[in-house]
Amino acid sequence: MSHDYGFFSFESKDEVLAKSKEFWNPGKTQFWIDEGVPLVIDRREGYFIYDMSGKRLIDTHLNGGTYNLGHRNPEVVSAIESAMTHFDIGNHHFPSLARTALAEALIAGAPPGLTKVVYGSGGGEAIDIALKTARHATQKRKIVSIVKAYHGHTGLAVATGDDRFSKLFLSEQPDDFPHVPFNDLAAMEEALVGRDVAAVIMETIPATYGFPLPNPGYLEAVKAMCERYDALYIADEVQTGLMRTGELWGISKHGISPDIMVTGKGISGGMYPISAVLVNEKAAGWLTEDGFGHISTFGGAEVGCIAALKSLEICSRPETRSMVHYISDLIGRGMRSIQDLYPDWFVGIRQNGVILGLEFADPQGAKFVMRRLYEHGVWAIFSTLDPRVLQFKPGLLLTPELCEELLDRAQVAIGLARDDVARAGRKAS
Ligand SMILES: Cc1ncc(COP(=O)(O)O)c(C=O)c1O
Repeated sequence: MSHDYGFFSFESKDEVLAKSKEFWNPGKTQFWIDEGVPLVIDRREGYFIYDMSGKRLIDTHLNGGTYNLGHRNPEVVSAIESAMTHFDIGNHHFPSLARTALAEALIAGAPPGLTKVVYGSGGGEAIDIALKTARHATQKRKIVSIVKAYHGHTGLAVATGDDRFSKLFLSEQPDDFPHVPFNDLAAMEEALVGRDVAAVIMETIPATYGFPLPNPGYLEAVKAMCERYDALYIADEVQTGLMRTGELWGISKHGISPDIMVTGKGISGGMYPISAVLVNEKAAGWLTEDGFGHISTFGGAEVGCIAALKSLEICSRPETRSMVHYISDLIGRGMRSIQDLYPDWFVGIRQNGVILGLEFADPQGAKFVMRRLYEHGVWAIFSTLDPRVLQFKPGLLLTPELCEELLDRAQVAIGLARDDVARAGRKAS
């Protein structure tokens, strides 16, 4: 059966996979085939994605929250459609209608103290902007991040992350980018005590590390240390922001006002690439000193700003907040009862709102679960830097019926994955 998409067509899924290897990315294409997830996303709608074969999957990866509001959310689509009758990406050299409107809306909903917005086109660029901003404000170079951090793949961002990402491109720079263990305050203090650090960058819950939760008081103490040792605190809210934790920004739950906060992914409803960095007055100096200090043609593209205004408005609705609280309660309870069935295998649930890290008793456990979930119509991804843990991020607007269906499917898949691991004769970690 031929697949005609109007702008292009393919004879079969096999043809796409072959050409994907030939012209696009052989390593990535083969990786998913080998992992037992030979997915080529075709139709996408709400919280469903469809493989080219027609197979339907409930998406609980949502590209790290990019599709928090569902795929092709009708309100976001319609905002973009009408935006296109007047706007394009705009011209980043000039004052801009949509960039200004979105900046005002972002600041209105931001943690106290953040006063200005700088735009990027993706999360990595925004992290680079945040790090450059901190270096300018403090006139220091060093950036502290956690061991097994992930803040993107761009020039500076990649150096804050695990060697898994930086080494390939000779980008590890341990002198300027020291990494300290998560939840270890003594190590953090040791890194800061010399007062030569520009900023500490922290995800509020580190996603690629499998959502380990910060110990009570940890983030607050890191912020206090930053103040004590003249470093800025950068909150990476790319995955934890936009109502994922039941608050618009995860960091607000800790009562922390970061010096710099980064958002991306879900900010424009997965329909247009845009990211934003919110800065306080302490950090904002370069914007007055040299407004052309960071240049990005597509940063804050005006059509993207309009998509973001709509997404932000949806995320900020009281009914979205109550939906998130309802779903997190329902899914949390459901997961705990599945855990009761397999306590030796399903060994932990890390949860904050609709961010869940599901821990399994095998070093590669989440990969086994991912494969069985895929077979049973659910897409969720293992954590790259800790494959024991499955990232499970149900949508913010998931219906109660779909939550129940998701739990039913998860229960079956988790049970089967346990048998797979036992059959493979693997030892629990
Ligand atoms: C926490 C976090 N920060 C930054 C990024 C980088 O975003 P992007 O892929 O848009 O460059 C990601 C991407 O996954 C992320 O998860």
